[in-house]
Amino acid sequence: MRRNFLWGGAIAANQSEGAYNEDGRGLANVDLLPYGEDRLAYMSGEIDSLELQQKYYYPSAKGIDFYHSYKDDIKLLAEMGFKSFRISIAWTRIFPNGDEEEPNEKGVKFYENLFLECKKYAIEPIVTIAHFDCPVNLIKKFGAWCSREMIACYEKLYKVLFTRYKGLVHYWITFNEINMILHAPFMAAGITFKDGEDHEQVKYTATHHELVASAMAVKYAHEVDPENKVGCMMAGGDYYPYSCNPKDVMEAMNKNRENLFFIDVQARGEYPEYAKKQLEQKNITLPILEGDYELLKEHTVDFVSFSYYASKVAASDSSEKRETAGNLVKSIKNPYLTLSEWGWQVDPLGLRITLNTIWDRYQKPLFIVENGLGAIDKLTQNHEIEDDYRIAYLSEHIKEMLHAIEQDGVDVLGYTSWGCIDLVSAGTGQMSKRYGYIYVDADDHGQGSYKRYRKKSFYWYKKVIESNGAILLS
Ligand code: BG6
Repeated sequence: MRRNFLWGGAIAANQSEGAYNEDGRGLANVDLLPYGEDRLAYMSGEIDSLELQQKYYYPSAKGIDFYHSYKDDIKLLAEMGFKSFRISIAWTRIFPNGDEEEPNEKGVKFYENLFLECKKYAIEPIVTIAHFDCPVNLIKKFGAWCSREMIACYEKLYKVLFTRYKGLVHYWITFNEINMILHAPFMAAGITFKDGEDHEQVKYTATHHELVASAMAVKYAHEVDPENKVGCMMAGGDYYPYSCNPKDVMEAMNKNRENLFFIDVQARGEYPEYAKKQLEQKNITLPILEGDYELLKEHTVDFVSFSYYASKVAASDSSEKRETAGNLVKSIKNPYLTLSEWGWQVDPLGLRITLNTIWDRYQKPLFIVENGLGAIDKLTQNHEIEDDYRIAYLSEHIKEMLHAIEQDGVDVLGYTSWGCIDLVSAGTGQMSKRYGYIYVDADDHGQGSYKRYRKKSFYWYKKVIESNGAILLS
């Protein structure tokens, strides 16, 4: 186990900050995701408008008001002994339209203050440059990541971040869950589809642009500060074959490759042969320009980060097999696993398996930057929350991570559980789907005091960090 293991938690700008139109912030794709039954259609790019509409409630507009409460929130995290805190940048705070010549100083200052607050408590910020954010202006102007113009806009953004926060931030992640572009293209990359367009072609075109932008960011980050460590990030969780039928095994391999493909490029520096063949068979052409391959090859990431909520199951014939929900991707139900209240499979050992898969493949330090249980919490009259179910989930998962480190030799930089402070759910827009150690008194419609309360898991996680995980193994 690394001596300076980065225990901590994670949040994202669009799910926590709120203040969506304060201090010059511009409108982003994530602001347009409504609460309610139309949310899924929006996330996948079936958009009828790029304006806010009266008929909807938009939970990101208020988030958990982190924009105003960050000092008190970070103080609570410090009380738990956090060594790291993963946050993301709201692109439109820095560049409200995405293509201005100069950044919005108020936005730049906000994150500077936030990082200084972390520094006060010796908390290492882990900063995701784009956690699903894309300025609406760039969607209107260029069609978001489908256009190569986006690379220059993203370049402007990371140049400001790397230079202005030099010395304050050492860990960067270029894109959150880059593989989500396949499943929620509007939420993940601002993509909307025109009639008759080949969706796969559009998604892989955007993917190539993000991969090039990511490699350029790695290059520049290292030039500005050799101390910078830049990582890629995928929605992880291995697919298991439904049975030992070789056809199921083949299907699971293909499904895993669908996700690992992105990391193959970012960590190994080239498009893998299987991907080239598959894209060719689907008549998909990548918009490769001269110099792209060299850039990808020469500027691979320093570490590989991922989110892990559950493993998944694949079968060559999935008809008549029971399905269950997951992190935006459904899976065949695994008969050996239980389900969360939202139908996500609970598989702690799957975390150890996934860690080993990724470590074997890339041999680069790994970082678990999201893991946790979305659950309903009850606030008692005394403002207490007995979240034993969350403690049980996290204990089992962290234990398996420790086994992967101690028994399998996997190199892990840190562990930041998801939603360390309750926040808006990305998938559903709910506040009632809670992940935190800290309860936020707000409901699904933005009603509540927004006061913070320590849950039982708060005191538990403090002890985990204090003991460097040892209390879980004794
Ligand atoms: C990941 C995202 O996909 O899963 C987070 O990076 C998200 O933004 C998390 O919140 C949990 O998903 P959900 O839908 O429960 O919020």
